[in-house]
Amino acid sequence: VTRPGNPETTDTVAGLRRRLDDWRSAGLRVGLVPTMGALHAGHRSLIRRARRQTDRVVVSVFVNPLQFEDRAQFSAYPRDRATDRAQLRAARVDLCFAPTRRAMLPAGFATRVAVLRGTHGWEGADRPGHFEGVATLVARLLSLAGPVRAYFGEKDAQQLAMVRRLVRDLGLPVEVVGCPTVREPDGVACSSRNRLLTASQRRAGASLPQAVRAALSAYQAGERSGETIARRAGDVIAAEPGASLGYAAVVDPDTFEPQVAASARGLVIVAARVGPVRLIDSARLGDRRLAARAARWTSSPPGPPPGPRPPPGT
Ligand code: PAF
Repeated sequence: VTRPGNPETTDTVAGLRRRLDDWRSAGLRVGLVPTMGALHAGHRSLIRRARRQTDRVVVSVFVNPLQFEDRAQFSAYPRDRATDRAQLRAARVDLCFAPTRRAMLPAGFATRVAVLRGTHGWEGADRPGHFEGVATLVARLLSLAGPVRAYFGEKDAQQLAMVRRLVRDLGLPVEVVGCPTVREPDGVACSSRNRLLTASQRRAGASLPQAVRAALSAYQAGERSGETIARRAGDVIAAEPGASLGYAAVVDPDTFEPQVAASARGLVIVAARVGPVRLIDSARLGDRRLAARAARWTSSPPGPPPGPRPPPGT
């Protein structure tokens, strides 16, 4: 079904193809912003960038069952179609592709795409099957939409590196554009999952950007041992009773191998379980602008996010 309106919405592959073929034959460049919905300021910044760099912007909204470890987490993922639609309209998106499960993963779908480098550690180790699920979905989306550019957040740094590798290895004719992490006033990275947190859990979540800040400060102060910088970051999260540290590491931004000798392009990556959700954060060690901004992060989180608060997942 393709519904005219603002934005025009389709839930079928045929509807997507028809509209994109029209645009491409008119010589228009298409940008794709893949999302799982529950849109926030981070998504809005991807859309703004896409609007600047392309002629027509397509946002896909699909909660991808392939990338969740279990059904409970898939069911608990926030969904908020009405607010999403209003945001897409306000952001002047041209087409929303919100496929049904059957349209995205038709009966008999039996293909998996696996990127074998940079995906085994960290998120890959803690969430078995996750990256294969993301790679499969992203490969299918890119092949269905054929955009000239596709936009991903730097917050999901390991995912971004994997998508770059996937596009390079398969020779897909698309430019992958990474966009800076958008943060709340207390530094917490915008994430759809934040809305599953209570006020006190949300406060505990601020330990992640504080850990990133500690790593950046250590690097700026001259520390060059990746292990020491990672330990500084991990200690911040470990000291927060409401957070359970998953990992803190300093890694190469392409391979996600640990950096023994930390460099300015090295990434500090952290993950922690806070209440019902797993939060992640990351930053380039040499990011002086972020280090300066971090000094102004407030200590209290913003008020509750708009929209209904779904029950906490398991
Ligand atoms: O980052 C996300 O929201 C998802 O992993 C993505 C890229 C839309 C694939 O489902």
